[in-house]
Amino acid sequence: GDEEDLEARPAVVTVMGHVDHGKTKLLDAIRRSNVVAGEAGGITQTIGAYQVSTEVDDVERRITFIDTPGHEAFTAMRARGAKSTDIAILVVAADDGVMPQTIEALNHALAADVPVVVAVNKIDKETADPSKVRGQLTEYGLVPEEYGGETMFVDVSAVSRQGLDELLEAVVLTADAALDLRANPTMDAQGVAIEAHLDKGRGPVATVLVQRGTLKVGDSIVAGPAHGRVRALVNDIGEHVPEAPPSMPVQVLGLTSVPGAGDSFLVVADDRTARQIADQREARKRAAAQAAGAR
Ligand code: GTP
Ligand code: NA
Ligand code: MG
Repeated sequence: GDEEDLEARPAVVTVMGHVDHGKTKLLDAIRRSNVVAGEAGGITQTIGAYQVSTEVDDVERRITFIDTPGHEAFTAMRARGAKSTDIAILVVAADDGVMPQTIEALNHALAADVPVVVAVNKIDKETADPSKVRGQLTEYGLVPEEYGGETMFVDVSAVSRQGLDELLEAVVLTADAALDLRANPTMDAQGVAIEAHLDKGRGPVATVLVQRGTLKVGDSIVAGPAHGRVRALVNDIGEHVPEAPPSMPVQVLGLTSVPGAGDSFLVVADDRTARQIADQREARKRAAAQAAGAR
């Protein structure tokens, strides 16, 4: 796309950290305080990615959040999450401190050259020791601003809701200081599948993050080895929407099979082209599998 077609887009923020350190609960707390979601009446848990609005300096800012599991089995998902994000929030429970998946998540973020904001969670707990967390992460190169470093640490509690505004502010400050958040909304959409599954009633359902362009109902798309025509788009609060602009997470209905988490997607000219590309990808996958089997 042309340089002049670039428009501001929301930051994409991936929430990472050790299992049970409170990533989902924290996002849930952030989402509940969100006026936009509240106005729509009730929040659905359909996808692990959503947008919230926050006001910083009287300016409304939207932020896209992606939740990731902390369980050690999900290493690949964290690696992919780090790649498709602008900012990582590293959640560390203040009672537990730094744990193996904290470090693993941090390493994925650093490898992807993604700025990190640390959310020191569960500070409502009596055993919480937020300064210990700061000390531990300093050893891994994340030096808190208050120690003369460059990393923002924010003490939060998903339970008492303390620190949530400060956390959102830290995200916005990081975006403004470090990132050029623009994308061309006019081109055919491209992005990445975050999650996908087969729904009994609706068929293959893929949650995708639009990274460039605008995805529209009726578009012919290829997602990994899957293809199809977009029958419906469902946003993070369960509403059907006609289109999804850059940085918007949305559920796509109409694929003929289920893509993999982390697969890229793109809009193509027509159904025939989509099927051809999908067939080629499928054939390449089979050939690679055969070659691996022959070794
Ligand atoms: P995985 O997705 O399994 O990696 O876990 P998670 O990081 O998403 O943690 P989750 O949000 O599921 O929270 C784990 C447990 O910690 C739950 O029992 C939460 O209620 C609890 N929890 C989360 N945040 C807080 C907090 O700020 N304070 C307290 N006291 N408990 C919390
Ligand atoms: Na959990
Ligand atoms: Mg979780």
